[in-house]
Amino acid sequence: MSVIENSKMAIVGAGAVGTSLAYAALIRESAREVALYDINSAKVAAEVLDLAHGTQFTGASRVTGGDDLDVVSGANVVVITAGARQHPGQSRLEMAGVNVEILRGLMPKLVERAPDAIFVLVTNPVDVLAVAAQQFSGLPPARVFGSGTVLDSSRLRWILSERVGVAISNVHALIVGEHGDSEFPLWSQARIGPISLADWMLSRSAAGASASAGSVPFTEAEFESIADDVKNAAYRVIEGKGATNYAIGLSGARIVEAILRDEGAVLPVSSVLTDYRGVSRVALSVPSVVDAGGIARVIDVPFSAKEQALFEHSAATLRASLDTLGL
Ligand code: LAC
Repeated sequence: MSVIENSKMAIVGAGAVGTSLAYAALIRESAREVALYDINSAKVAAEVLDLAHGTQFTGASRVTGGDDLDVVSGANVVVITAGARQHPGQSRLEMAGVNVEILRGLMPKLVERAPDAIFVLVTNPVDVLAVAAQQFSGLPPARVFGSGTVLDSSRLRWILSERVGVAISNVHALIVGEHGDSEFPLWSQARIGPISLADWMLSRSAAGASASAGSVPFTEAEFESIADDVKNAAYRVIEGKGATNYAIGLSGARIVEAILRDEGAVLPVSSVLTDYRGVSRVALSVPSVVDAGGIARVIDVPFSAKEQALFEHSAATLRASLDTLGL
């Protein structure tokens, strides 16, 4: 897809996530200009150079950046990846305090330089920081939201695609709630191509398909196991390589594209909710229509009774964290 003219995305934080997002955005031509900011001048200068050296092969995008916050000026989208990163075994919520304080000082300066931008939080705990950023910026929730469970949903779709033997683009399944330990799959809405996951399993077994993996209905234990694999995916990757970066970088680029291309794409991003199935004053991921204005609409999904209970648990978990932080 061709790059949108005069589109600028700015990335705050040139760590593993921010640079992976920049790399993904260049390759996907998410924006005409990718601007990278970090307080570490040597690091950000080197990252910008290393990325720029490859732009012969990435088409129409250009990469800029530096240690002056003015590099974000005029951006259409600002993605915030700066902050302390998750250590092995550490939960995302345990990182809240230090990253909230980083945002407290940062948001007003970003809004001053990019007053018309859409702000996307990636730094964890992303749901807590989406609330903090929205409060510190004074902008409406539609324009300040988190990457939420876009990545988790991609993980779920990958696992299901492998299990049922269908292209990931035709596996429609979402993780909702917290981007964290209380997240859960919306099994009631999962679809394989034009039919529900439940009907897929019945049709596969009814058609006498070979008993190959994915051709027989999942047991309850298998549904739970898939949910756990998604929920614990980051812990597993961090244990092995110290951080997650590629998939979250790609997820961030996808969100930026939905904004810059005014797509109206349905993505499970995390925004401050008001009376969403009885939940308010927390940011949680639910299917949302994302376009040039940010979140155009939050989609009301008919949760099953179990899903409603899980959603309320996720909300209570986040609310408790926000209360301790005075947000
Ligand atoms: C993960 C980080 C981005 O889930 O929270 O990989």
